Amino acid sequence: MHTVQRQLHTDHYHLQRLLNCLSHEIECYEYNSHENADLTVILSALDYVHDYPDKWHHPAEDVIFSKLEQKGVKECPLIEQLKSEHRQIIQATHTIYELFNMAAEDCIVPANQLLETTRHYIALQKQHIHKENEYIYPLMNKVFSDQEWDAIEKAVKIRNDPLFAHQSKKEYELLYHYIFDLEAHKNH
Ligand SMILES: [Fe+2]
Ligand SMILES: [Fe+2]
Repeated sequence: MHTVQRQLHTDHYHLQRLLNCLSHEIECYEYNSHENADLTVILSALDYVHDYPDKWHHPAEDVIFSKLEQKGVKECPLIEQLKSEHRQIIQATHTIYELFNMAAEDCIVPANQLLETTRHYIALQKQHIHKENEYIYPLMNKVFSDQEWDAIEKAVKIRNDPLFAHQSKKEYELLYHYIFDLEAHKNH
């Protein structure tokens, strides 16, 4: 498997873990919850999604997806749909970040709005990843030659994941520990 391809698979795994944590944290907005949501963690998670998956993962896929379309694969309609979902996801990250930022600045945002918008966002992200894993990643694994992967790598320029890579950025340290602690807790 080529480096770019491996990175994209790893990104999906990481993004799903992050979405699971986000999903856990927003449950604090349920009317019967006894805990307060940790806005620092939520904002950090959204900041990361904006910083890495929205800035590198989806644009890298767009390059690859366009090359798949040039090959005239029969999955072109699905590929078009996924490319449009990228734009939708990037916009949604922005909207939801603004919403939580308002909540953090003590503006009144109804708990139900935060809950529903985030649930919808998580569902959008997850079904998007599922379609790619199911239909498009196996396809790109089949159709590109090593030379084509090299050309893709030149075009997309691999970047370090600022949260999950070995030397993650200091600004995501709290989020990093939150994710690992929550997973450890859930596995017991
Ligand atoms: Fe995608
Ligand atoms: Fe993806």
